[in-house]
Amino acid sequence: MSSLKELSALFESQFKERQFPEQPQQLYDAAQYLLTLGGKRIRPVLCLMANELFGEINKDTFHVANAIELFHNFTLVHDDIMDKSAIRRGQPTVHTKYNEPTALLAGDVMLVTGYEHLNKIQTKYLPRILSLFNKTAKEVCEGQQLDMEFENRETVSFEEYETMITLKTSVALAASMELGAIMGGAGLHNQHHLYEFGKFLGVSFQVQDDYLDAFGDPQKFGKTPGGDIVANKKTFLLIHALNVADNDTKASLNQLFLSKDEHKVESVLQIYKDCGVDDWARQLKNEYYQKAMIHLEEVAVIEKRKGPLKELAAYLLNRSV
Ligand code: IPE
Ligand code: IPE
Ligand code: MG
Ligand code: MG
Ligand code: MG
Repeated sequence: MSSLKELSALFESQFKERQFPEQPQQLYDAAQYLLTLGGKRIRPVLCLMANELFGEINKDTFHVANAIELFHNFTLVHDDIMDKSAIRRGQPTVHTKYNEPTALLAGDVMLVTGYEHLNKIQTKYLPRILSLFNKTAKEVCEGQQLDMEFENRETVSFEEYETMITLKTSVALAASMELGAIMGGAGLHNQHHLYEFGKFLGVSFQVQDDYLDAFGDPQKFGKTPGGDIVANKKTFLLIHALNVADNDTKASLNQLFLSKDEHKVESVLQIYKDCGVDDWARQLKNEYYQKAMIHLEEVAVIEKRKGPLKELAAYLLNRSV
């Protein structure tokens, strides 16, 4: 059984090799550029941890973990185009450093390279792994579509927000867990509870992402502060503020979201603060975290083996990166 630090290092040691051919150089350099900028690698680490709950790491699990991380990076490159984001991992986004067409293609080749990794695993695992991987990939597209459609809507309910973030973010963490569990030989009961654990952890993860987008330290978080406000994203911060604010404040908030006011970000942030979003964020994250933990309890392996997963979950809850 390995710690979070050990598994991260183990994953990195085999992922750091260049994943792509040399030519056309612009295309493959653009793809490798984002991978080389790092990131937390939490999805592949979750996959390896889920495998380790049930026994030694199957060497094929590394192919699955690589496919997951490549898929994740593909979604980031396309997401940054959709969200018009200029900075990621503290550096220019792929479409900013190269250009949009190259970034689109770089994302595409990452996805295909992910499938090449999957194609290397033992055939007995392949149908199950592929169907979960594909189901998840479609759901992420659905979530991303909703996220964009919500930009143009005046109001979004909390339930709609929850569905959207579950699709765009949580299912990828959930699938990372279940894929690792399958590779480790887990039975259906354990697979199910690990999926649900990852799903609730993923919701709490996106809540923290939305919080950090507004209030994080840009030096650490590595993205442009207030990007979600500029893009009119319907995050829990806005939904909560609209729920608790008085009528005048609600009107100002709606007005600000329609405007291109140069002080839009700071004005919205002030309203968020006045509406007590800090407490609400903490409460919300904790609710999902508790739900995640209930599913982890249900996983039938000795408690000690769950240590690294608990460590990772606790880190994610209060992360600033
Ligand atoms: C960013 O994911 C996209 C979201 C789902 C919020 P991460 O925060 O895991 O990004 P990296 O890989 O660590 O940069
Ligand atoms: C992105 O959500 C989810 C996916 C990439 C699928 P965000 O748009 O909030 O992610 P960041 O904040 O750009 O990393
Ligand atoms: Mg984004
Ligand atoms: Mg987005
Ligand atoms: Mg975000």
